[in-house]
Formats: sequence, structure tokens, C-alpha cells
Amino acid sequence: MSTTSMQAWRAQLLRFDDEGRPLYDSDGLLVTAEGTDGVRRVVDAGEYGAVAARHAGLAVEHLPGRLIAPGFVDMHVHYPQLDVIGSPADGLLPWLENYTFPAEARFADPAHAAEVARFFFDELARHGVTTALAFATSHPASAEAFFTEADRRRLRMMGGKVLQDRHSPDGVRDQTEQSLLDTEALIKRWHGKGRLGYAITPRFAPSCSDAQMHGAAELARRHPTTWIQSHVAENKDEVRWVRELYPASRSYLDVYRQFGLLRPRAVYAHCIHLDEADRRLMHETGTAAAVSPTSNLFLGSGFFDYVNAERHAMLHGLASDVGGGTSFSPFHTMLAAYYVGREGQSKSGLSLAPSKLWWQHTGGAARALGLAGVIGTLQGGTEADFVVLNPQATPLLARKSAQAGNLEELLFAFIVLGDDRLVERTVTA
Ligand code: GUN
Ligand code: ZN
Repeated sequence: MSTTSMQAWRAQLLRFDDEGRPLYDSDGLLVTAEGTDGVRRVVDAGEYGAVAARHAGLAVEHLPGRLIAPGFVDMHVHYPQLDVIGSPADGLLPWLENYTFPAEARFADPAHAAEVARFFFDELARHGVTTALAFATSHPASAEAFFTEADRRRLRMMGGKVLQDRHSPDGVRDQTEQSLLDTEALIKRWHGKGRLGYAITPRFAPSCSDAQMHGAAELARRHPTTWIQSHVAENKDEVRWVRELYPASRSYLDVYRQFGLLRPRAVYAHCIHLDEADRRLMHETGTAAAVSPTSNLFLGSGFFDYVNAERHAMLHGLASDVGGGTSFSPFHTMLAAYYVGREGQSKSGLSLAPSKLWWQHTGGAARALGLAGVIGTLQGGTEADFVVLNPQATPLLARKSAQAGNLEELLFAFIVLGDDRLVERTVTA
């Protein structure tokens, strides 16, 4: 490892172990080096004195009072819904019809897609989000704009063109055969290029014909390292609609199983109205849930059942789900998840520990995405995507964090009071 490519930062340091336990150094050192592939990775980290002694002569950037932590991972977001945030509706289906589909129809225009993609990645960086699994729209140009911009910024990002060949208005509805050809062309062009990954994206069961679902599953089999992303069991009217469309299926989730769309790296947003058999199926197939609390509260969809998700060891992590979600801020999402855990569907509810919420938006989300050991923990060998947080960012944050007696209290102060002002810098590998 040439020392010229090495870079180190001294600050408070938060990392995670493989089980999601937080590792904290009040005076820490993060040492990174660029690999032959041009990606910067963690080579050493821990208590300043001990780590510094192993790297004599290393140039260190000192960030007094700051906290370095893994970059946040957003498991489910719609980049073209940037302008849809805060659109009121009675629920999911009228919200899609009245706001979302008209906004997405504009992405037939590559110039519009490129402009929004730039704004989107700027916004993720401002909020400390370094990886996302994102929906584009049904227009191939929207996926092209997403990947082109992510590639230019050399980010670890996953995304895909939406598949929706039925029950969708003109302007967003695609053609079955062409949609699958477009998807495969995008996989060949972008999957595995730099740090990019392709996600096969059937919007949700009501919007995809059987032929399109079969085609999506066939592509997923032919390209086993791609992601699959969709929505399931978000809203009661939606669940009822799926029951009408597939009366022979045991459940909404089972529709995806029948088509062959459950597997590791398959990520389903919401997962609210599931039953025990569904949760077992999620676990057995290695399928992950993207928990989207600000969206579910905003659209009145319901509460994710943390108690039963954990009982079934169901893979799950946090997501903004912008534009159903109301914020790109991981702090807002973690706080909403805390409220949801409290309320929950189980009788007593639970108080999710701050470090656990944080894990679910970093290393835990990475693991649910099949990216354990790659991002999300700042362990040795992982990619050096991290945030520098400034606890002095606002008077109240400074006051509250100064009184924190332990790590959990400090992280909770950030979760409750934090927003983009807390994120001083976002560094990507
Ligand atoms: N179900 C199908 N499409 C969407 C979408 O764009 N947002 C949300 N929240 N749910 C969906
Ligand atoms: Zn969504």
C-alpha cells in the first residue's frame, strides 16, 4: 500500500461490528488508502494513539469536536419524486394518480431527468446519504440520467427503470416487450460499472402484467447479482386491489413469490400489512424490507411491525421513500422510526435504541442490501464513505450534545434535533 495514497482523519469515531454493535472512540483515527481500482477503503481505525503509532509519518486531518460516522444508506427512494414531496392526498392510490404519475411523465425529457438527477445527488450528499437504492421512472432516459450522474460522482448507487405496463396512465405506461429489452440493455451498460448496480424494478403488482412480471423474474435469474425492488403491502386499498387481481394467491407478498421475485438482493418497500407466513417467507428467501416511516405516516399507510419483523429475523433497514416520504434526512427518518416502534402493532410497542436506529440506516441497511463488508460500518476493508457531523451546528444541538453522558444519549440528541445542518461534510470513496 503506497503511503502517498493514504489519507487519515482524527475526530470522534463511530463504527459498527458485524452484529450491529456500535464501536466508539472519543478520540479516534480513520486511516484510508486508495486501491488499484481507484476506490478508497478503510485500512485501519480505532483509538488515535494506538492507530497513529502503527502509521508513522502519516498526514492527518484533525477535526476537533467532530464525529466521523459511516455514510447513511437509503434503502428505497424515488429520485424523480423530488418535486412530489409534500403533496397531500387521501392515501397512496389517489396520491399516485394526482401527483406522482404526472410528475414522473416529465422524465421522458432527458434534460429534465439530468437536471433532477444532479439536484438529487447534491441533496443526498447534503444529508450524508452515500448509497441509495432508487427508482427512476418508466423512461429509460431517467435511468440513464441517474447512472450517468452517479458514475460522474463515483458513488455506490443502485437504481433501475420502472416497469409498469398496465393500470398506469399515458405518459408513464410502458410496453411489455420493449420494457424488458430496455431493462436488459441498462443492466449490460451499468450493472457493475464502477460502484453502480442495476435494480430490476417492477413498480408493484397492480402495475405489471403477468408477462412483465415473468420477464422481470427471468432477467433477475439471468443476472443474479442485480437487485430487485418493488412495493408490497403498503396500503389497505392497495392490498384489496391485489386480492381482486390475484384471487388465488395466498397474500400480496405471495404474488411476488409465485413469479420468482423473492431472493437475496430483492427489496420491498413498506411491508406493513404482512402476516406471519409472509414474514417467514421474507426470512426464508433472504428478501429485505425497506422500512419507510415518514412516508407511511404522511400517506397514512400504517406502522411497520418491528416486534414481529425481529421475531422472524426478517432483513430490514431504513428508507426515506421520497416523495411519499417527507425528507431526505436520515435523522428525520430515524426519529420517525422511533415513533413507529413506540406505537407499533404489538401491544406494548418498543423503544428502539438510538444506536440500533443508526445501524438500520447504515450497516444494517447495507447488510439487508447484500452489501455487508462493502459499506456501512467503517470496518477495515470497507469503502471509505463517511460523514463528518458537527455537534455545534445549532445552539440547541451544542447544548444538548454537551450534556450527553454516553454514546446512546449523544446519538439520540442527533436523531431528535439533527438535520442537514448537522452534516458538515460527506466524503465518498
Ligand atoms: N406503490 C407504487 N408506486 C409507488 C410509489 O411511487 N410510492 C409509494 N410510496 N408506493 C408506491
Ligand atoms: Zn416507494
